[in-house]
Amino acid sequence: EAIKVFCPATIANVSCGFDVLGLALDAVGDKMVIRKTAEKGIKITKLTGQDLPMETHQNVAGVAGLALLAESEYDGGFEIEIYKNIKAGSGIGSSAASSTGAVWAMNQLLDKPFSNLELVKFAMEGERLASGVAHADNVAPAIFGGFTLVRSYTPLDIVRINSPSQLFATVIHPQIEIKTSDSRKILKTTISLEDGIKQWGNLGGLIAGLYTEDYELIGRSLEDFIVEPIRSILIPGFDKVKSESLLAGALGCGISGSGPSIFALSKGEANAKKVAEAMRNVYQKIGIDYDIHVSKIN
Ligand code: HSE
Repeated sequence: EAIKVFCPATIANVSCGFDVLGLALDAVGDKMVIRKTAEKGIKITKLTGQDLPMETHQNVAGVAGLALLAESEYDGGFEIEIYKNIKAGSGIGSSAASSTGAVWAMNQLLDKPFSNLELVKFAMEGERLASGVAHADNVAPAIFGGFTLVRSYTPLDIVRINSPSQLFATVIHPQIEIKTSDSRKILKTTISLEDGIKQWGNLGGLIAGLYTEDYELIGRSLEDFIVEPIRSILIPGFDKVKSESLLAGALGCGISGSGPSIFALSKGEANAKKVAEAMRNVYQKIGIDYDIHVSKIN
């Protein structure tokens, strides 16, 4: 018995929601094939597209799968084939795609003993391996779909948020690699009350805008006063990509997860494509290679 799954790329933070907000991309992701085996444990039998460890304890899908097995009554095991399309260190949830794909498929093969929330918990163990911190803002949207909010980590509480039908994401990945663990180390551990006020104003505004499908409000709320000023220094061309995207009609633009990918949200696919053109021009001028995608949020 085998199951083939699409494992979506995700944008974490979405500017104002560091470690709590994320969204799943409809058109960008990996593929995995998972099958039950009589042999206990988890085996990664194939891994193409990226140079990543295949040893179960070193692989995020392996570790997430083991977390599920530890809570399960099933006494067999699983074999995993991973076909990576998302580059590691790109900032669009490469590790989350693998962790969630594994546990989601295993749950299907076991006739769904676990809830989506439990699957998020298992997948977070993959994130712990990848970045040192079990953050849930990529794995939650990969499991639940659309936009998700991590309302609380302890206890874990995930809220699915409405995705307006005309909202499209443009994501450009300049071909440099930034490890999440490195881009977390440079962050400050405290924020000022003044920045906090601005940030939670925006986060509330963004959630309200998503529910009322008020695209202008979404645009006004897509600002990050806390993380972006620090991390953007690591991304060549960031300020230019952002200003050109906004000029081209994007509602907002920011760092995708821990970078270096940059995302913009736009109303309508035609606008999202115009924004893609503007982003592309910036990296062509600077002379940095890139991947670019336009996708619905789903
Ligand atoms: N919220 C995490 C961070 C996402 O920004 O470090 C990493 O993909």
